[in-house]
Parts: sequence; C-alpha cells; structure tokens
Amino acid sequence: MRELPLDDLPKHSPWSARLLGLDDWDGESYGGTGVSWYDGAYGGLLELASENPEFDFRDVKRSAHHHTQESPVAISERESLYLADIDEKLDRQEAALVAAFDGVLSGEETVVALGCGWGHELGVLADAYPDCEFVGGEPSENGVALARELFGDRDRIRVEPFDFREDSWEILDCDDFGVADSEVVVFTQGSLTALPSAREVVTETLVDHLDRVREGVHLEHVFELNPEDTLLGQLRRSYIRERGYNDDLLASLRDADAIDVTETTYDVVGGNPLHPLSEVHWRPA
Ligand SMILES: C[S@@+](CC[C@H](N)C(=O)[O-])C[C@H]1O[C@@H](n2cnc3c(N)ncnc32)[C@H](O)[C@@H]1O
Repeated sequence: MRELPLDDLPKHSPWSARLLGLDDWDGESYGGTGVSWYDGAYGGLLELASENPEFDFRDVKRSAHHHTQESPVAISERESLYLADIDEKLDRQEAALVAAFDGVLSGEETVVALGCGWGHELGVLADAYPDCEFVGGEPSENGVALARELFGDRDRIRVEPFDFREDSWEILDCDDFGVADSEVVVFTQGSLTALPSAREVVTETLVDHLDRVREGVHLEHVFELNPEDTLLGQLRRSYIRERGYNDDLLASLRDADAIDVTETTYDVVGGNPLHPLSEVHWRPA
C-alpha cells in the first residue's frame, strides 16, 4: 500500500471530476441507493454462488470485487489516501469491522445487524467473536436468500427480512432468534447511509426499542464528520449530496434524549476514499 497525494486522486477515481462538474455523467449508471437496486446486485451474487457451490462468503465478496475493479484502487484511512491491491482493501475493511467491536463483545451477546445485505459482515464477525450470536435483517429478498445459502448451516447466524421503515422492529425482540434472552448490540454498516434521512428512523423507531439494546455500533458514511474546511472534506460532503445519501445520522443520534453518543471515529476506512466509513458508538441514556 502506498500513499496517494490528493492531487493524484483523479488518476484513480472518476469522482472528483464528476463532483466538480467536469465530466458528464449519468447518476443512474453508478449504482443506486434503493432496496431494488441492491436486490438486483445481490441477485447477481446469488447466481455467482449457485454456479460456484465451493465458494464461501469471502470468496463471493472477493470474486465480486475483482470482477468490477482492477488493482490498485484508491482507498482512505484517517484522512490519508492510499493505493492498495483489491485484496488488501478488503482485508482492511474486514479489520475495521472486527475492530469496531473491540471492547464491546465479551461473549454471550447477540449482535443484530440491520441492513446486513447478503450477510458478509455476519460471517466476518462470527469468525472473530466465536461466543456471540448474530442476527441479520435485510429488506432485499435476494440478500436474505444469499445469506441463507451461505450461512444456512451455521447455528450462530440467522438472517430475516427487515426494513428500517417498519413501525416496529420485531427482529430486536423475537424469541425465535434467541435475542430475547441475551444482551443486544445493534449494528449497521452502510445501511443507514442508504436512507435519504435517518432522523425519523432514529427518533421515532430506534428509541422505542432501547429497552432491548445495550449498545449501538455503526460503521456508516457520516456526513457531519466530514470537515467543512478541507478540500477532501468538501469533496466528501459534495459526494453525499450528489448521491442523495443522508446528512443527518449523527445529528439525529445526538438530538435523541434517550441516546448518549459515546464515541465517534472519522474515516476508519474508505473503500471509496470520497465516501469513507466512520465509527459511531452509543448507549441508551
Ligand atoms: C451499502 S449496502 C450495505 C450492506 C451491508 N451492511 C454491508 O456492509 O455489506 C446498504 C444496505 O442497506 C439496505 N437497505 C436499504 N434500504 C433499507 C431499509 N429501508 N431498511 C433496511 N435496509 C435497507 C440495502 O438493501 C443494502 O443491503
């Protein structure tokens, strides 16, 4: 992995030119944010897994990334940019995911991952924390189907249909998943990002379920943490606006009286350096 000066980012990412209006681009061609877009993408991965029954969840992830990208790729960590091989990028993303639960999981807890996609994060966490249980919730039918295909034989991983927009999140108190008896840690990775606003979900639904939750952990693209006074921060703010992702997750958590945000870490890793994941932890107040 070698450092990439911000000035050289345009050689490795089309996004700065798009954001600065120097490149005609059709927003639709670069991946959507709605459930139907994800469902289509996960349908392709479901086919890939069916055609390659020997693939485990890491093989699916790696194969998909090698299919759509060429090494080296631009990534970020703590506001520095790097060029990395695809496998190294994926290793760093896995490491950031596991590290987000350092000091959070001691065993016996149930991690409920909301918007878990096809469950890759559940596989990584189950390997790293062998005494915990993992329940994933996901609205995409293909995502749930692929997760069940890949993890159906694992006792500690369950995946169920779930949508943030439901009035009540039964996934957090369903006896069938073993959740009712254990301490629950709620987790999201890149899924709250997909909502045009996080405020209603946080202040009207999440807060109603806090009696079931010991802690919240998020690896999300947090608009508010992007500096307003650096070029990189401004490009990242512009990226979120351009793509229609929400800009109110952290403010919504901080504004909720029933939630104490205990820790934020900016840019733990950015598979897209203009759209990095930041880590947020909270506890019920
Ligand atoms: C960027 S993907 C992240 C998936 C997974 N957490 C990961 O890190 O690989 C965003 C996910 O959010 C899910 N999502 C979008 N809208 C949602 C909603 N209303 N409720 C729950 N999940 C949603 C999508 O289906 C998709 O799986």
